[in-house]
Formats: sequence, structure tokens, C-alpha cells
Amino acid sequence: MTSSSPAKMSNGTPAKASAEGWSPESWKAKKVLQDVAYDSPEEVEKVLAKLSHLPPLVSSQEVDKLRQQLAEVAENKRFLLQGGDCAELFDYCSQNPIENKLKVLLQMSLILVWGGRTAVTRIARMGGQYAKPRSKPTEMINGVEYNAFRGDNVNGIDLADRRPDPQRLLGAYFHSAATMNYVRALLSSGFADLHHPEVWNLDSWNFSHVENPAVRAEYQAIVNRLQDSLDFMRTIGADDASKEAIKTVDLFMSHEGLLLDYETQLTRKVGEKHYNLGTHYLWIGDRTRQLDGGHVEYFRGLQNPIGVKVGPSMKPEELGPLLNILDPNCEPGKVTLITRYGHDKVALYLPAHIKAVQATRHKVVWCCDPMHGNTESTASGLKTRRFDHIVEELSKAFRVHKECNSILGGVHFELTGDAVTETIGGSMNLLEEDLSKNYQTFCDPRLNYEQSLDIAFMIAKYYVSERSPLKNL
Ligand code: PEP
Ligand code: CO
Repeated sequence: MTSSSPAKMSNGTPAKASAEGWSPESWKAKKVLQDVAYDSPEEVEKVLAKLSHLPPLVSSQEVDKLRQQLAEVAENKRFLLQGGDCAELFDYCSQNPIENKLKVLLQMSLILVWGGRTAVTRIARMGGQYAKPRSKPTEMINGVEYNAFRGDNVNGIDLADRRPDPQRLLGAYFHSAATMNYVRALLSSGFADLHHPEVWNLDSWNFSHVENPAVRAEYQAIVNRLQDSLDFMRTIGADDASKEAIKTVDLFMSHEGLLLDYETQLTRKVGEKHYNLGTHYLWIGDRTRQLDGGHVEYFRGLQNPIGVKVGPSMKPEELGPLLNILDPNCEPGKVTLITRYGHDKVALYLPAHIKAVQATRHKVVWCCDPMHGNTESTASGLKTRRFDHIVEELSKAFRVHKECNSILGGVHFELTGDAVTETIGGSMNLLEEDLSKNYQTFCDPRLNYEQSLDIAFMIAKYYVSERSPLKNL
């Protein structure tokens, strides 16, 4: 079915051609969870007025391009890789963290393209991933109650800085802009050019961060073979046509659309349509996806492709109504369902969710987030995840989709290009007692550089072996 076909929903409701009764502010009439209470409404108004007048950070053409690519993911013609920090800090807006994150995403996607022989769409959790939903608004520290850290666009990690400060919304905009600007500069200057081995080789970058010789050898073999092929093409003069394609890559930006006041100011009308031009792709978190809530209301009017986190609390019967609201015209890839159940729950919940969507006319992208259902605390109180649990959820998700004649179209990770010690296991065999060596996250534990490459190799293998029979339809 194409986006222009008239659609009728499975529950008999005719599809609406436009988002009826919607405006960028219609969410204000609904219940908004995870809202922030500021001391000074006047100051908030001033900040929002300033934001509404600042220029967009991305263009509607870029958003449309991503939307087209996600339609291809929904049709099993490409694979989605989404990754980045749990909570991006304003401090990460700096040369090395940006370059390292870009490199690890590019290297992971190279492994997927090469090993899985599939086109890959890359979306970074970056350039705006500042707001964090919390299960509790406050926390007790040494017997004193403090506001929880809600992300750099709300308050600070320092205990003295926990009061929500509206000026941080402007900080979010300018840090997003600086991050995206540097990413754009790198990509347009040949950073991702496959002819430049200094970006792609482990030898010349972060070599010491990849300790396992097997991972190093496997990755280097891909790069060497790729560079041989490119040299050969160049020698025989056959690389001209594909030159542009190998000089750079598309990389899209994303964040959780949690702070609706901020998102509203970055929502701009293009022709008759509304785009959020603060980023390319936004998702609704597992805590804010209520059918009658403010977040679903805001998202339903956007042209951007959007994600929805789906955890064990999602009732299968809610999925059809949710998709009818968010994707009234049944456009393939408009909505990505990002599932995050946990290694021991995925086989229990995913089949019913797949079947519920198959009973509708919506063609979603199914994406596995094997991180958020697998968080645990060590005896010493550190939040961590086990690499084995992450791999287990991922491999079970591939298997369940195949058994249900469905397609796992993508993966969503919390990761960093640095050598942090936050996740237990991986080919480097990080032990629980190693966690304190370089534990940096202020939110959820991430895969480090080597663990990210490990997982990319596994996905490439699953992709080939567990490829859905739908692949060739
Ligand atoms: C997240 O992606 O950081 C997050 C909070 O996820 P979820 O909404 O799935 O819990
Ligand atoms: Co997280």
C-alpha cells in the first residue's frame, strides 16, 4: 500500500487525510506526564519566544529523505542502526566525543553493510538527546531529598544545580546546533570517505580500545578487503559512478521528544505540513505513550518519522488504536516500534505485539532496543547491563520476528565511542569489579567502543542467518 492510497483502519475507522483538530499546541489540552514545574512562568515564556524565533536545525527535505529510507526499512530493503548516549550532556558537545561517536556509528554500519549485505540508515541519539524521563521526581542522597536529574536541558547533575532552569532550554538549542554543525562539517569534508583509511582503520584510531585480537582481526579484514576493492575499482577507472556514494554517508539526528514546550517551538510549518525541525527523528518514551496523553497528541501532527518505545506494559489491543492516531494514512515506515522488554520477557510479549500490528494495515518498522529492559544494579549500587542479556534479547527478537513472518528492521543502542566501563561482558570480558575503572554515565550504562563493534558483528551474522523469508518478496 502506498501513502496516497485511501485507507480504512482495521477497526473500521476511516483514515483521516490530515491531523484533524491538531495544532502544535493542541497537546496542552491533554494530560502531560513528566512535565517540568518551573519557578518563573514569565522567564519560561521569554525563553520559548526566543526559541520560536531561532532558525531550524535541520531541513524538511532531510526529514523527508529519512522518511523515505524508513519506508524502505519497513519493506525490508534496508536496516536501521540507531545509537548514542542515554543522556547527552552539554559537556559532550566537544571535538573528541563527537568524533568518537561518529566513528563508532560509522564503523558499526560498515560491519552491517559488509556482513549483512544491506543498505543501512544511521540515526544518532545525538544533537538534542538532553531530556530524561524519570521514574521518581526526587531522590534521597545522604538523607536529603533532591530533585532527580532530568537531563541537561532541565537541571544539572550537581546537587546544587537541581532546580529546573528555563535558560537550559536555550542551552539545549545551541548545544544541538554546535553538535550538528560539527557533524555536518566532518561529513562534508571526507570524514566518512571510504578512501580514507585513517577513519576506518582501528590501527590509527582507538587501537588500544579494542583488546580482543579476534575482533580486531575480523574488523581489519573487512576494511582491508574493502580498500582492496576500492583500489581495484580505481585502477580500472570504474569507481567514478559510485564516487559520490562512497565519499560520505547520511547520518540523521534524533532524540526523545519529551519536553513538549521545547519541541513546539521547533515545530515549523512547511507548505501545509508541520515538521519538527529541531531534529530529524523523535520518539515517544515508554512512560509517555498513553493514547490520550499530550505526547501522542503532539506527535500525531508531525511529518517527521517517529518512534514509540514499547515495553511489557503495552497491551496488544492498544497498538492498533495508537497506530491509527500516529499513522492515519498507513504510510510504511512512518512509525517505528522500538521494543524493549528484557532478555527474559521478549519471547513472552513480542509475538502478541507483532500479531496485533499484523491485524492492521499499518506497516511499521520493528526495531529492537535490547538495552532498557536489561538494566540492573550491582551490590555496590552501580547501574549496569550484561552484554549476554543484550545479545539474548536481540537474538530472540530476530527469531520471534522470523517465526511470526515479520521483519526485525533495526536496532537501537545506548553506546559511546569511548572506552568506558559500564556494561559487563563482551569480547573484552569486562567483569563486575572492572565497572568502577571508567564508569562515566549519569544515566543508563552504555556499550563501549569495543562492545559496540562486537554487537555489530553479531547483528550482521543474525541478519544473514535469521533473515526473514519476506526478504525476497
Ligand atoms: C531511553 O531511551 O533512554 C529511555 C528512557 O527509554 P524507555 O522510554 O524505553 O524507558
Ligand atoms: Co536510557
